[in-house]
Amino acid sequence: MQQIAEWLEKLGLGQYAQRFAENDIDPSVLRDLTDHDLEKIGVSLGHRRKILRAIAELDELGPRPAPRAEAERRQLTVLFADLVGSTALSTRLDPEDLQEIMGAYHRCCAEQIEKFGGFVARYMGDGVLAYFGYPRADEDDAERAICAGLALVAAVAGLDVGPGARLRVRVGIATGLVIVGDLIGEGASQQHEVVGEAPNLASRLQALAEPDTVVIDGGTRRLVGGLFEYLALGSVSIRGFSDPVPVWRVMGASAVDSRFEALRVARTPLLGRDEEIELLMCRWQQIKRGDGSVVLISGEPGIGKSRLAETAVERLSDDPHIRLRRFCSPHHQDSALFPTISQLERAAGFRRDDTDQQRLDKLEALLAEANADLSEAVPLIADLLSVPIGNHYPPLNLTPQKRKEKTLGALLAQLEGLAARRPVLMVFEDVHWIDPTSLDLLDRIVDRVATLRVLLIITFRPEFVPAWIGRSHVTLISLSRLPRRQRAEMIMRVTGGKALPQEIAEQIIDRTDGVPLFIEELTKTVIESGILTDAGDRFDARGPVPRLAIPTSLQASLLARLDRLAPVREMAQIGAALGRSFSHELISAVAAIPQHEVDGALAQLVGAELVFQRGTPPDAEYTFKHALVQDAAYSTILRGRRQQIHARVATTLESQFPEIVAAQPQLMAHHCAEAGFNGKAVGYRLKSGQQALARSAMTEAVAQLQRGLELLANMPEEPRPVQHELDLQIALGRALMAARGYSAPVVGDTLVRARALAERFDRPDRLVPLLYSQWGFHMVRSEHELAVSLAEQMEKFGETRKDQVALLLGHYIHGASCYFRGEFVTARALLELCDGLRDPAARAICAAIAVADPYAASLGHLALTLALLGHIDQGRARVDEALSEARGLDHPFTVAFVLSKVCAVEAAAGLPHDARRHAEELVALSNEHGFPLWLGLGLLQHGRSLTALGQAQDGLAMLARGSRCFVLPEPSCTRRARSAFSPRLTPRSGICRRGRIASSRLRSSSRRPTSGPVRSSCIDFEAI
Ligand SMILES: Nc1ncnc2c1ncn2[C@@H]1O[C@H](COP(=O)(O)OP(=O)(O)OP(=O)(O)O)[C@@H](O)[C@H]1O
Ligand SMILES: [Mg+2]
Repeated sequence: MQQIAEWLEKLGLGQYAQRFAENDIDPSVLRDLTDHDLEKIGVSLGHRRKILRAIAELDELGPRPAPRAEAERRQLTVLFADLVGSTALSTRLDPEDLQEIMGAYHRCCAEQIEKFGGFVARYMGDGVLAYFGYPRADEDDAERAICAGLALVAAVAGLDVGPGARLRVRVGIATGLVIVGDLIGEGASQQHEVVGEAPNLASRLQALAEPDTVVIDGGTRRLVGGLFEYLALGSVSIRGFSDPVPVWRVMGASAVDSRFEALRVARTPLLGRDEEIELLMCRWQQIKRGDGSVVLISGEPGIGKSRLAETAVERLSDDPHIRLRRFCSPHHQDSALFPTISQLERAAGFRRDDTDQQRLDKLEALLAEANADLSEAVPLIADLLSVPIGNHYPPLNLTPQKRKEKTLGALLAQLEGLAARRPVLMVFEDVHWIDPTSLDLLDRIVDRVATLRVLLIITFRPEFVPAWIGRSHVTLISLSRLPRRQRAEMIMRVTGGKALPQEIAEQIIDRTDGVPLFIEELTKTVIESGILTDAGDRFDARGPVPRLAIPTSLQASLLARLDRLAPVREMAQIGAALGRSFSHELISAVAAIPQHEVDGALAQLVGAELVFQRGTPPDAEYTFKHALVQDAAYSTILRGRRQQIHARVATTLESQFPEIVAAQPQLMAHHCAEAGFNGKAVGYRLKSGQQALARSAMTEAVAQLQRGLELLANMPEEPRPVQHELDLQIALGRALMAARGYSAPVVGDTLVRARALAERFDRPDRLVPLLYSQWGFHMVRSEHELAVSLAEQMEKFGETRKDQVALLLGHYIHGASCYFRGEFVTARALLELCDGLRDPAARAICAAIAVADPYAASLGHLALTLALLGHIDQGRARVDEALSEARGLDHPFTVAFVLSKVCAVEAAAGLPHDARRHAEELVALSNEHGFPLWLGLGLLQHGRSLTALGQAQDGLAMLARGSRCFVLPEPSCTRRARSAFSPRLTPRSGICRRGRIASSRLRSSSRRPTSGPVRSSCIDFEAI
């Protein structure tokens, strides 16, 4: 707190020291303060600006955090530099001189490496090993490493080692995933060792490099795009690497000075942002009339600020104007007026081999375009660009302060001069990295622009707080994330119009949160990952879709966000293990550290906008702002530690959060599996599958159950919970029936496996549902022999085991099979035996086995059988009974089932009015609850009754509509409706085949009965 008080005192704002202290603002949270925070604690507007500016001017990086003791996984760029010919040096020099030279060499290396944010891990003789990305990641680690490498080569060459001698180094740089930290022990033995390919590769690349050059690997090359000039050295065989490694020599910085152009090469067409572009175009028209304008574009990294600015530049390319572009750079935040200097050099057309005179001529020509009087402007700006003016101009003899004032004035006059000639479009990019003098200049430009023909576009990330908001000629655009529809479109653009497997596209849409850069990079990574095959117009998955890895190109920038909060990283890691969202209560219980520490850490995560907070502790909920930040936090944890965290989560949930355990067994399964509690994880997968089944979420059920089976398959024989295996297979059979169709081969296979298990473990209680499911499978496939045989097995099982319910169910399905085969006499006899199914106890057992109530259903079948045998009155009586039974159960599915029989019986009885009334009810009920099968049958019955009532035209249309339901899912069905029963309507299913036959018969108006299984299986259609 004392430090803060002193800092405020220095700013002349000591009066706030107490307020800062009262609000627990210490140096660790200073950089996280926002304008809003300061306002809340009562800092006035002007002072807020001062404080925020002072915070921005604090060394952006602050002191480098001390390397952490705990090992972690992270992407790292490793630089290895080695001295050339040191043996020769040692023979030539006196050991004392050599020692001095080596000292200077080491200091020089350390200085250059640290200047670019690297960490010197070790000196190995004449070699230096340095890391970029540890202990703190930056989004441009690879770039910094190369800059350091180039600077190191030049600096070492410039060391004074006596007359005629020169030191030379070779530099190798490689990037990859490593484990870094204390791998050996604790405390004193801490070595910051790295395990992974990158250090090895960097050292081998160094050996390959020519003296005075920097050689990089493919991983590094991908990250630095067009920022440098390269010479491809081809693929080289390297000891220890099975495949040849592509390598490049870095020749120097490239001429491209827009980071956007250098790093974002592959461009997809612009999506959305119409309003923003319209606003920019509108401002442009305004400035042409003399009303200058400033548009601020703010947004998180990768959201599309540069893209929007570039789009404005493109759109205006045909309108005569002068374009000025200035780019701030992360490496030049302390370099006064860097953006202006580099722009002027570019505009003047300076070349590396120009003489001083040539440069001066070029500069004069450039300045003359805007300025009539060059006498002061040229010496000032030439000085800025380090161009000697010789004696062409009188010396200026100014104090540094005066010189700065005049230089800024000259630059402003330059802009005014240009704007007087033509409208000016000026883009000032990445102002969050601006140097203080440029900010001073920009302040003046913003003021001055109001009355010039200038449109000034300024882009920056949210950490920059502009002081210009509120002025009448300044507009702020805050770019938001892309909506889901545009995310999907963007994926398609990146893939070149080829669709990705739905599951992958969904993952990308969800995990990228609408940040265009994330969408681009994740999609590219997926395409390059080898998990897809190119099928011409789309990509197919080669196998099960894994969770997508974080793209290498995003690793550093995501980690950088976390590393800013090094002391509370563990909380971020625990949060990441808990999921995208977690409650205050849960993380407090899992973290097992004092509550005030948990609260402090969470407050910091929220302050840094890594997580959002909803509500106030202890009822607060937290959500990672980006799914990828959550992934990044999680990815840094070592495997063993991950296991520990998940184990802690699982046990905490079980002991303290029974409601979560009950409601989210899939979450428990995840934590248990990650903790290595496989047996428990299987049990939770089963529960979660059964829960999904009960909610008719069939696809989810299949996924959960299959994951349970996979876990089991990987467990050793001994502690394997075999009972779970049987239950998983049974549940999977039911879920697959719904998800893939009753007749899908995978359903049959699953049921066969389950039955074998039930027999092996002698589980008769499980056998009955399996027999019933198997009967359904074969019945729908019109495999009636097999269906009958299963019904007989059920009857036999009931008899031998004295299981009355099994026996009755056996009679029912046997009778139904006979009915479908057209064996009405046998069907009647069997269905008349089913009375006992009325018993409430039997009904309760059946409810877990069959969808429609078997008693009401058996009555329905019996009624129609009787009617078709000519016993119309008995049929009607039975069907009335069936309907009142169904209605009494308050079970819509059973009511629909029975209504379909009611209509058929009434049609057979020649009662079209009644049939029509019931058909209408059936259609309405099916629509309401989503029963496509019954909807189709309802429409058919309705059509038939209309035809019988003499409304042939309407009847035919209705029949056609109904029959279409059996060929393809009815388009007007709601999604819920289709998913509830449409599996039966998959093209290969028996009912579907019957539908097609029936509908083709309808088309040919054939009323002739057919024989055999087809005839019997489509008996309802035939009747119609
Ligand atoms: N609306 C969009 N349509 C299509 N592509 C987009 C869109 N917005 C951004 N992109 C693409 O996303 C990537 C990131 O955009 P851009 O570089 O403009 O982000 P940024 O906000 O400037 O990020 P940074 O803060 O890192 O500079 C680029 O490749 C860009 O072409
Ligand atoms: Mg940008």
